[in-house]
Amino acid sequence: QTASIHVFPSHRQNEINRHIYSGFTEHMGRCIEGGIYDPNNPNKDLLTPKSLRKDVISTLKPLDIPIFRYPGGNFTATYHWQDGVGPHSQRPTRLNLAWGGQPETNQFGTNEFMGWCRDHMNAEPYLCLNMGTGTLDEALSWIEYCNATGNSYYAKLRREHTGHDRPHNVKYWGLGNEVWGPWQIAQTKDPKSYAETALQWAKAIKLLDPSVKLILCGSDGMQPWDYEVIEATILPATTSDLGVTQGPLIDYVSIHGYTASSNHHKNVFAPLSAEHAILTTTALIDLACASNAIPPGQPRPTIAFDEWNVWDPKRAVGSQGAEEKYTLSDALAVAVWLNVFVRQSDKVGMACLAQSVNVISPLMTTETGVIRQTSWFVYELFCRFVRGHKVDVVVNCECYQGDTSPAWLRDSVKGREMRWLDVCASVDGEGWCVVCVVNAHEGEDIVTAVGGVDGGTEVEVYEVNGESVDVTNMDGEEKVGICEKRWVVQGEYVFPAHSFTMLRFRVSERK
Ligand code: AHR
Repeated sequence: QTASIHVFPSHRQNEINRHIYSGFTEHMGRCIEGGIYDPNNPNKDLLTPKSLRKDVISTLKPLDIPIFRYPGGNFTATYHWQDGVGPHSQRPTRLNLAWGGQPETNQFGTNEFMGWCRDHMNAEPYLCLNMGTGTLDEALSWIEYCNATGNSYYAKLRREHTGHDRPHNVKYWGLGNEVWGPWQIAQTKDPKSYAETALQWAKAIKLLDPSVKLILCGSDGMQPWDYEVIEATILPATTSDLGVTQGPLIDYVSIHGYTASSNHHKNVFAPLSAEHAILTTTALIDLACASNAIPPGQPRPTIAFDEWNVWDPKRAVGSQGAEEKYTLSDALAVAVWLNVFVRQSDKVGMACLAQSVNVISPLMTTETGVIRQTSWFVYELFCRFVRGHKVDVVVNCECYQGDTSPAWLRDSVKGREMRWLDVCASVDGEGWCVVCVVNAHEGEDIVTAVGGVDGGTEVEVYEVNGESVDVTNMDGEEKVGICEKRWVVQGEYVFPAHSFTMLRFRVSERK
């Protein structure tokens, strides 16, 4: 088959918010303990004086990941932040009820996370509040502990614990995690009751610190839950009888999504459902703004897709907390996920890859080092090169004609054309135009006319591919990595079967 891709580098659209490359670290399996923090590792050379893994830091750091979410996930629903601060010898060991009742020593808590996230990763922290067994009082005291600058009780306690005056200035706070889920401890079944509580919490939190940004707990973006909580919480700014004005209480609406299939084509196309989730949630936000008469000019919430990845919980069962072994097929699915976030980057203010180390992660630790899984290389390329503005691109190629039964395909994707080439493109301020192309076809190379850039232009090519869609990097060999090449634009480019290709054109001089 032949195809064409036409890029329009001079037609800049919205700016791509780098927050779409954010991460997530949860007290689950070996993500925190054994991943980020490894006090029991006998090889002390691998560790900082605070027992943080140096190899994890040096591998993640060049990606310049903007935000890390913490401490969960499901773990959040029973987390009491005060267990994880203060003298280490006095911290209680609790049972992690979200993840099999494993002991949680609380040796790594708020201040340790801040040290890792801010000082080592140069990233912003995003903390998720306990709306399961936790109280508003507890949430307020955590925010005061992190952000207050005066002489209030928790600000002083923080200074006592950290030994310095600097607040943590945590900007992003989640109003619970998947509170609707039956797996959740202290599940909230009724969206109206969650919305009411979330508004009361938001009102109090923004009185304490009006600068924070609050993330509402949505579902997969397409459920009655999403409709109800969005409709009930996106409200006009108010001024109370006492003259206190409060701006919008909700700044982001969260969506979570995980995809997987043992069938390669289904696996790679499944993330397209996220595109529909983003469009649906955006429409729900618009609807709430209209029906609740949000005045023009009042900032509207955007989307925080704060958990996404390829994950089949059944496949990863038995490992210590979802240690997925990613195949080349999974890496291509991750590339489609990232293409979706770039294509919809005018609507997505944040997206967090779940998770950043060991647990459903592209990066694994062993006792002696790290393994970069297949999907690592795709994530790395996006973080390094896809930035600036999204640009228009028109793709013409054949489409997947296989099974589209709802058993694997969300209704949202059913009926949509799934082109063998899944594409996004960007232009950055340094004059680089980047075109990201997934050839999802398991067996066919696709000969493609690439237009919109001058013939003769020399292009940097980064390809992620492997012998077959099933190969992994987890058996002692890096079978999938980045292959760098050059191509001079002339006629057609052949996108190999089951590959991810990034073409990097220089389109103008640095501005
Ligand atoms: O990321 C793993 C888990 O998936 C999170 O704890 C939870 O929020 C989701 O169900």
